[in-house]
Amino acid sequence: MLFRKAKISDIESIHQLITHFADKDLMLARSRSSLYESLREFSVADVGGRVIGAGSLHIIWDDLAEIRSLAIEEEFQNQNVGHGLVDAFLAEAVDLEIPRVFALTYQAQFFIKCGFKLIAKEDLPQKVWKECINCPKFPNCDEVAVIKELDF
Ligand SMILES: CC(C)(COP(=O)(O)OP(=O)(O)OC[C@H]1O[C@@H](n2cnc3c(N)ncnc32)[C@H](O)[C@@H]1OP(=O)(O)O)[C@@H](O)C(=O)NCCC(=O)NCCS
Repeated sequence: MLFRKAKISDIESIHQLITHFADKDLMLARSRSSLYESLREFSVADVGGRVIGAGSLHIIWDDLAEIRSLAIEEEFQNQNVGHGLVDAFLAEAVDLEIPRVFALTYQAQFFIKCGFKLIAKEDLPQKVWKECINCPKFPNCDEVAVIKELDF
């Protein structure tokens, strides 16, 4: 299992992964266009050249980044792949000197296992909500906020 930054040739697999779970209403859909534009934010889990998991680290402000679009192929779930990708994003945030990483999610327990804690969504800065305006669920967000403070 290799955790690595995404390449342009991974986008079709990433799009398929996200679309699969978005169709089940488990995460937000992403257009190919938005994936191309945010390619540099994405990392993937790669098994022998096959992308079986993906997610992105999106910078919000000088002290805050967000894990987005995290998805692991069903066949590979519960094998620590999601945790591995989250750890890769936390390491990336440390490298970037960003001290806090959060996620808006339906999978709070998974993130808690990864060392995050629950916070009230209202405690996130307004900038977060500005970006939510394009979400089809806005303003009725039913996701939970989790956050991890990093030591470096
Ligand atoms: C949620 C998701 C990313 C988790 O990835 P995963 O690779 O299956 O999870 P891991 O195997 O790394 O799990 C790490 C820990 O979290 C636990 N965990 C995973 N999913 C969980 C869940 N839904 N509820 C409670 N605990 C969960 C695991 O049991 C494991 O615990 P352990 O350390 O005690 O063994 C994956 O199930 C997925 O892609 N789901 C569909 C899309 C989705 O909901 N994405 C989240 C968007 S924010």
